[in-house]
Parts: sequence; C-alpha cells; structure tokens
Amino acid sequence: MRRSVFQNILWLLPAEVAHNIRMALLGIVGKIPSGKWWLETVHAPQKENLEREVFGIHFRNPIGIGAGFDPNGDRLDELAATGFGFVEIGSVVPRPQPGTPRPRIKRLRPNHSLIDNSGYPSRGLEYILNNVRHRTDYTRDLVIGCNIGRLTASHRDDTIKEYLRVFRNMYQYVDFFVINISCNTASKRFVPRSREEILALIEPLFEFRRGQLDYRPILLKISPDLSKEELDTVIDILIETPLDGIEAVAGSIDMARKSPGAVTGGLLTERAIEMVRYIAEKTEYNYPIIGSGGMMTPEDVKRMMEAGASLVSLNTGLRENGLRLLKKSAKKIAETKNKED
Ligand SMILES: Cc1cc2nc3c(=O)[nH]c(=O)nc-3n(C[C@H](O)[C@H](O)[C@H](O)COP(=O)(O)O)c2cc1C
Repeated sequence: MRRSVFQNILWLLPAEVAHNIRMALLGIVGKIPSGKWWLETVHAPQKENLEREVFGIHFRNPIGIGAGFDPNGDRLDELAATGFGFVEIGSVVPRPQPGTPRPRIKRLRPNHSLIDNSGYPSRGLEYILNNVRHRTDYTRDLVIGCNIGRLTASHRDDTIKEYLRVFRNMYQYVDFFVINISCNTASKRFVPRSREEILALIEPLFEFRRGQLDYRPILLKISPDLSKEELDTVIDILIETPLDGIEAVAGSIDMARKSPGAVTGGLLTERAIEMVRYIAEKTEYNYPIIGSGGMMTPEDVKRMMEAGASLVSLNTGLRENGLRLLKKSAKKIAETKNKED
C-alpha cells in the first residue's frame, strides 16, 4: 500500500517513537477547533453498506483497532472521529505497569513486521476507568472493547482474581470484552492453554455476567502459536460454554525465534487468515470471529473477511502504513458487498 509523505517520515523513526508522535498529533488535532471534523472528513469511511450487527452490537463498519494501539483509551474521541467501527482498549491490567525497558519494539522492515516486546505497558485500571466512564458526543456511538491481559508480575492464582477485578470494574462502561490468553511477552509464567486452565479463567466472568442486567459479550484472544489440538480445545470451549466469540490472532512468539517478543504484521498475515478460516469452517460460521494479525493492506482485510471474520482489527498495519488503511479497506469491503448484492 502506498504511504503518505507523513507516514514515510514516521517510518524512518524507531517504531515506538513514531507511534507516540502519531498519537500525540492526534491529541493535538483533536483539541483544535474543527480538528475532529477534519479527521472525520479526511479519514472516515463512507457509511453505506458497511454496517454490521455482531454479537448483538451494532457496528457502523467492521474495521476496528486492536489492543495495544491506544492501550489506555487516551485517544478515544479522535479515533471515533476517524471513523473506526470499534476500538479495543488495553490490555487493561489492575495496576499500572511500565512494560519492558525501551527499545522494545523492533522493525523487520523487509517483512513489514514488528517484534513487539513491550510487555503490556499500562496506566492501570483506575486511570483507564476515568477515560471510559464518561462518553462524549464522539464516543457515545463508538463501540469500545476492553481487552484484559495479565500483569507481568502476577502468579497463576492471582491472575484469575485480577482478570475478574478488571472485568467487574469495566463492565458497565464498555461494550464487549476480549480475554487475552496469549502470552505476555515480558513473562511467560501463566499462559492458559488446557481446557481446565482456560475455563478457570473465564468461568468466574460468566458467573459475574449472569447477575447483571446488561449483557456484555466475552471473546477469547488466542495465540497463533497454538497447536491444532490446542486450537480445537478453544473451539470446543466456544461451542460448549457461553463464550461469544474468538479474536484470532495475537503476535507470534514462535516466529520471533530467538528475539524476545512477538512477531506482528506482514509475517503473520497468512497464519492469521488460515486460523480464522479453520475456526469459521469448524463452527459452521455460527460464531463471531474478530480477525487480527497482519492486516497490512485492504486486500488482506478483504481476504480475512472472506475467510469468515465478522470484524477485523488493525494494529501494525496502521502503525506502518498509516490511518488511511481504514478508509481504503472499508471501500474495498463495500465494493465487494456491492458486487455480491
Ligand atoms: C506495540 C504492540 C503492542 C501490543 N499490545 C497488545 C496488548 O496490550 N494486548 C493485546 O492483546 N495485544 C497487543 N498487541 C497485539 C495486537 O493487538 C495484535 O493482536 C497483533 O499485533 C497482531 O495484529 P497486527 O499484525 O495487525 O499488529 C500489541 C501489538 C503491538 C504491535
């Protein structure tokens, strides 16, 4: 995909610096008069033929932002004005944590990929709650997902309590939850992969939800490094429990080989599409899937949806190719839909 001049300048900078500059500029544009109007005019996709109803929620378009892009929910107004169908904040953890020392995001330039070893830096639950508690005119219609991840320092038993704590506190302020069971690259201490371990983590969440008036869908976010047996276990859990869907996939630790961290971006595209297709076929297209991983071009997004994803989340594609990926991908999806109609 052709990059803008601005994007080419960002591309010369270290990946995390470039991302921080983009987010800071978004914040500045959001604060100047007509700034959000400008974001909407330049970036927001057309409205026709893109709306979706997925797990009982109305999405203005199926293209959203994956966890780690705006982890603390600091730019929700601006991202809403930009026209994303949803924003997944987080990973939200109960206490602030700094993440791994910098530099922690490495570019694999020829492959349009990153190795992310940031370790979920987060300002913690209280700070994030303040950002989502009051919806503005812009975020009132934005679908907000809350990705819950693991504190680097947590032990197994604490992890279960900590996921529940974030879930309970965020419950009334967000629209859906994504429970991240892929690895926190900063610590591989507890990565639930067996049926028992996954159920131990999500059953307390189902239990809490049962007592609430409002229903919040719960999805599991899985690693691309799962074996076929492990993936089948996740699919069985999806079919047999009140789980609402799956987000596939997170970054790949196996692909990073000896480097600490997880590969994201272009190297992940085929694996992500293949996993989504497998899940969709095995569940006979009956369960919502958020397709994530290596969505670098509008063509990737189109292929992901054709493989069976109901929604698609972007991260590395936006960092490396810029926000225009949203509008171009939406156009591609709308064109495909127009042809089908
Ligand atoms: C810098 C960075 C930070 C990330 N942080 C998180 C995170 O906190 N929680 C999470 O579930 N995924 C996180 N991810 C993973 C992405 O949400 C996404 O699943 C993964 O990068 C694959 O998609 P992509 O190839 O489009 O980036 C992060 C990715 C990157 C590049």
